[in-house]
Amino acid sequence: MNNTTKRVLSGIQPTNEMHFGNYFGAVANWVDLQEKYDCLFCVVDLHAITTSYDPKELRKNSKNMFVDILACGIDPEKSTLFIQSMVPEHTELTWYLNCVTSYGQLSRMTQFKDKSEVINQQSKEKFVSAGLFTYPILQAADILIYKANYVPVGRDQKQHLELTRNIADRFNNQFGKYFPLPEPLFTKTSKILSLADPSKKMSKSLGPKHFVGLFEDENKIRKKVRSAVTDIGNIENNKMSQGVEGLFEILKACNKTEIVKSLIADYDSGQLKYKELKDNVSDALVELSNKFKERKKEILSDENKVKELMIKGSEKARVIAKKTIEEVKQLNGLA
Ligand code: TRP
Repeated sequence: MNNTTKRVLSGIQPTNEMHFGNYFGAVANWVDLQEKYDCLFCVVDLHAITTSYDPKELRKNSKNMFVDILACGIDPEKSTLFIQSMVPEHTELTWYLNCVTSYGQLSRMTQFKDKSEVINQQSKEKFVSAGLFTYPILQAADILIYKANYVPVGRDQKQHLELTRNIADRFNNQFGKYFPLPEPLFTKTSKILSLADPSKKMSKSLGPKHFVGLFEDENKIRKKVRSAVTDIGNIENNKMSQGVEGLFEILKACNKTEIVKSLIADYDSGQLKYKELKDNVSDALVELSNKFKERKKEILSDENKVKELMIKGSEKARVIAKKTIEEVKQLNGLA
């Protein structure tokens, strides 16, 4: 990679089970990007502690997510893959950035408003942490510490990216041009929808019927797809229902272009059998899942290897992060 190669950074929250929504919405895109850019990807465990959680689960989930990302095809020789908390410079930069973040702008973050509302409505403690409020500043630090040019994210992260750019801009105006303003790279695959409620995005928090895990048993995958909601309520004339559209979206994301073409032709002529559509979706997901399961098994066959890769990844990231911290401290008058 030469000096002009642009840098990409993205982060993903740790969960104990990566699903096809995560894969097509983020990680599949990372696998493509690593061929063209200098890529850094991190499992954002520090973001995961902004709402209530179980420490034992978190430790397990972070490691699991790291392994799953490898199984999806992120190559540690090409990309820098690491766990966020293993690069403590992120938290240090967060403080410096706290001081160039507008309180007013931070208060307008819709994700904070949404998440705090859910906490207030659904949890007993109704505890909204300051960490949840400043979450976007930590995200800005993740990006700016590597002076990333591009940030692949879903549309829901648009506002956080805008904030990151504003933080960088304010820093540059105050202390001299230092941070490049990062641009979002919105993922090209469309949203993968929940199977049980196609008016929503595929997500774990909705419950097990709503998502398909990457490493689920073949039978379970087939069963979930078979019971996917297709037509619900009144469908406007000639308009494909969200459920059917969602199933086509999955097939497209799996690159089954020919099959999609032929099934769309059936749909247009009123001949499409949902069973056939669903069988094709199941086959495509099972095919991918088998590939991932095989890779995961291989990775996990050497327990030390995973630890080693985590350490190596964070060491690679820290070389860049430490340099940024030194320079920022100089500019800030702290060193
Ligand atoms: N907030 C992001 C999400 O929920 C995750 C994230 C954390 C992230 N740090 C990041 C994404 C840095 C991109 C860049 O999806």
